[in-house]
Amino acid sequence: MRAQQEKPQRIVAVGSGKGGVGKSTVAVNLAVALAALGHQVGLLDTDIHGPDVGVMLGARRRGGAAGEVMLPIGHREPLTEVARMPAVERFGVRTFSVGMLIGERQAVKLDGRFAGMLVQQLIADVAWGPLDVLLLDLPPGTAEPHETVARQVKPDGVVLVTTPQEVAQIDTARMLQFYEAAHVPVLGTILNMSYFVCPDCGARHTIWPRHDTAGGPLAYPILAELPLTPAIASAGDAGRPIVAIQPESAAAAAFFEAARRFWARLGETKAP
Ligand SMILES: Nc1ncnc2c1ncn2[C@@H]1O[C@H](COP(=O)(O)OP(=O)(O)O)[C@@H](O)[C@H]1O
Ligand SMILES: [Mg+2]
Repeated sequence: MRAQQEKPQRIVAVGSGKGGVGKSTVAVNLAVALAALGHQVGLLDTDIHGPDVGVMLGARRRGGAAGEVMLPIGHREPLTEVARMPAVERFGVRTFSVGMLIGERQAVKLDGRFAGMLVQQLIADVAWGPLDVLLLDLPPGTAEPHETVARQVKPDGVVLVTTPQEVAQIDTARMLQFYEAAHVPVLGTILNMSYFVCPDCGARHTIWPRHDTAGGPLAYPILAELPLTPAIASAGDAGRPIVAIQPESAAAAAFFEAARRFWARLGETKAP
């Protein structure tokens, strides 16, 4: 039967203009924390050219793809129920990434201009099942899919991820312009790699100078301030997010706090 599937109740984009600030790490751990709090959560990797969500959730494809992979763009009719691509369930989160279709040494040769179209198609054509919220892990930069996500997908909110450095905040403010222009509310900011707690003496160290760039991401409610913690990185590399494997850790507690604040902020933006 050809039919549109039920839309997620909410869609929230997680992004930063900068690469390497922890967007995917935050999106993955936020998703796992929200699922642990009892919500039905989906996570779509929209970083077509650097799709890391599968690795971080332990759904890796180390070998190559078996033959050519057809990315589902360009068709207009809704797909039949059986033709929809399955979402992969990991740690209570339903997830999809083009990284699950191609091998880790393969790249998607998609013209960046079509990245937005692909995101729209994946929201419609992955068999998500009923979702309270679908998180979008955004790519860095200001090219597509940002304009399409902001204007066509029209998320219910955006969560900004930045590190303390000025360059990260400047680039995040750049990306935010697309969402501001489309009147997408900022739910809050996650300040990542903000400090380091010495495992030997327990002292808290600031690594980078903290800038509060005027009108930048720190002007919004701070959902969490996360430490630079080797365990966050090694958990991501192992495909077992820290929230899932060390839920009692200080880092996981910060993610759970972020998840609670996130949900409260989302409730303020629109009646469920
Ligand atoms: N708070 C943190 N502490 C330690 N490592 C982190 C932290 N946040 C992210 N990382 C690591 O930094 C690298 C980049 O993170 P990633 O989430 O891939 O960034 P982005 O998606 O913004 O490019 C990864 O190796 C990740 O494990
Ligand atoms: Mg990423």
